[in-house]
Amino acid sequence: MSTSSRARLGILLSGRGSNFEAIARNVLAGRLDCEIGFVFSNKPNAPGLARARELGLPSGAIDSAGVERTVFDLQVVDLLKSHGVEWVCLAGYMRLLSGRFVSQFPQRILNIHPSLLPAFPGLDAQHQALTHGVKVTGCTLHFVDENLDAGPILLQATVPVLDNDTVESLSSRILVEEHRIYSEAIAWVLKGNYRIEGRRVIKT
Ligand code: GRF
Repeated sequence: MSTSSRARLGILLSGRGSNFEAIARNVLAGRLDCEIGFVFSNKPNAPGLARARELGLPSGAIDSAGVERTVFDLQVVDLLKSHGVEWVCLAGYMRLLSGRFVSQFPQRILNIHPSLLPAFPGLDAQHQALTHGVKVTGCTLHFVDENLDAGPILLQATVPVLDNDTVESLSSRILVEEHRIYSEAIAWVLKGNYRIEGRRVIKT
């Protein structure tokens, strides 16, 4: 384990891991002043986990299938804490966190969601946006509580919905913004120049 005093991030993912890779690129290039302490997946075969191994980052998985939520979450918390993780970044982690997990990292868990919350929470947000007929959608970087896609919002970015958009074309334009605002939000919280008032995150 490193002896550096830089903040240590834990990244939790369940799939492709492009948000994780965007963060990792910025960390490895020195554009974010932190370390990736552990990359965790509840899916042992997640492509993002394979990528973490290729990058030489500490990583591991516990299969969540059939494990009671709180029991599982406390195993993950132990694993993260044993690697010195102080901040948790959800990056396509397809599980709702229990209150027991959230209380271990108070206001230190971030998530990215591919819509302008509170519109279109949950699964298939880009499909929901297309079906609803909105003209503008985007992504939201927010703190995590035990409710789905619900905590105080740090950053949002807008993306226009084009007449000829498909779920795939819209998702890929939103993803560019996701990658950008995730690292921007990490840099911001690590600097600590904000306060949370109710649901509002205010720059100080
Ligand atoms: C992203 O669209 C993110 O907003 C959502 O899940 C997807 C994960 O993509 N929470 P990736 O695994 O980071 O590529």
